[in-house]
Amino acid sequence: MNIKYNISLKSYNTFAIDAKAEALFEIENENQLFEFLSSQWAKKAFLVLGEGSNILFTKDYRGAVLKMENKGISVRYLDDNHVAVKAAAGENWNDFVRYCVDNNYCGLENLALIPGKVGSSPIQNIGAYGKEVKNFISNVFLVDVRTKEKKIFTNEACEFGYRQSIFKGKEKGNYIVTEVEFVLTVGEKPNIEYADVAKRLETIENVTVSDVYQTVSDIRKEKLPDVKQLGNAGSFFKNPIIDIALYQQLKNKFATLKMYPVSETCCKLPAGQLIELCGWKGKKIGNVGVYDNQALVLVNYGNATGKEVLNLANQIQKDVADTFGVNIEIEVNLI
Ligand code: FAD
Ligand code: EPU
Repeated sequence: MNIKYNISLKSYNTFAIDAKAEALFEIENENQLFEFLSSQWAKKAFLVLGEGSNILFTKDYRGAVLKMENKGISVRYLDDNHVAVKAAAGENWNDFVRYCVDNNYCGLENLALIPGKVGSSPIQNIGAYGKEVKNFISNVFLVDVRTKEKKIFTNEACEFGYRQSIFKGKEKGNYIVTEVEFVLTVGEKPNIEYADVAKRLETIENVTVSDVYQTVSDIRKEKLPDVKQLGNAGSFFKNPIIDIALYQQLKNKFATLKMYPVSETCCKLPAGQLIELCGWKGKKIGNVGVYDNQALVLVNYGNATGKEVLNLANQIQKDVADTFGVNIEIEVNLI
């Protein structure tokens, strides 16, 4: 097992925050995972890391960081039109989506180009362009860090919600995801309900999963900063869900305010628009700022610390609450 001591995590998190960890273990298989769990390092707090694309280190990490690097994909036909595809936690998410698209397995193409590992995908139930990974996950394979037992959580047991699951909620830190199984369709027409995507595909007659993958990738490249050039963790906040009655009051004051219906009584507000209306879009304070093309994304312009990013986030939260009476919750995992 590859172990590094007193290591900078700068290249292990997409915000490029220069925090340090006491040790970093690269786990390539289950044996190494159990070896780690039996070591002294596992007796105190440790952090499981994928590609660090949804994490903000606000200080050095006192303890071990466990980087999941196990690999492998297996496919089982359930019937003529459905496959169960099982992928190891350490597989890169986009490479896995690409594998499914290349094999004409339909479902995950709307989730193209989301950074991170397969093993992290259930943690916050990743979503984009009208789909969430909970729509496709059948089982999550895990190890309970308390008992070192292997377990399987069904989709229902994961308690998925909007950018939420049991692993980000009440069972936080108790399980390590080792594999995830998805049920996908074969030979079905891809889903292109999402307006932005549908519009760009208007001129294509028989849209394939590959067309959707390409279109979603193109949109993402236009809207979101490249982590190799500008440190960030995607949307820093969740889109708040509020009563439609409150939305109507706000709409009287802010005529352009958009919303997406969630139920008969609730709707989701685009936090990016709330932040923009407060005048934060494109603002830079020292080493940190609000991305000029997407106000939901906070960026590191160089040598920012996690505390600087968090300070900016807190100022934005206060401003949005004072202006709209709405709380925007942080989506990124604060360490
Ligand atoms: P990390 O950031 O390394 O970890 C995230 C959390 O999961 C941590 O709490 C970690 O401890 C835990 N974790 C990781 N692996 C395991 C494991 N094997 N077992 C148990 N716990 C684990 N997200 C979306 O939902 N939709 C988007 O459209 C989207 N776009 C993004 C765009 C950009 C440019 C960036 C930088 C991020 C974006 N994100 C998006 C957020 C991020 O890509 C996802 O949350 C992703 O799933 C994080 O994967 P990761 O491997 O980097 O996880
Ligand atoms: N908007 C603004 N100003 C901005 C940004 C957005 O007015 O600065 C408005 C847009 O005009 C649009 C609406 O807000 O009408 C929604 O914007 P967008 O389509 O860019 O999506 P989002 O709500 O900002 C969410 C997810 C993204 C996901 C996209 C696409 C959350 C927290 N974020 O962003 O996920 O990729 O939709 O489906 O739900 C992530 O979680 O890290 C992430 C990037």
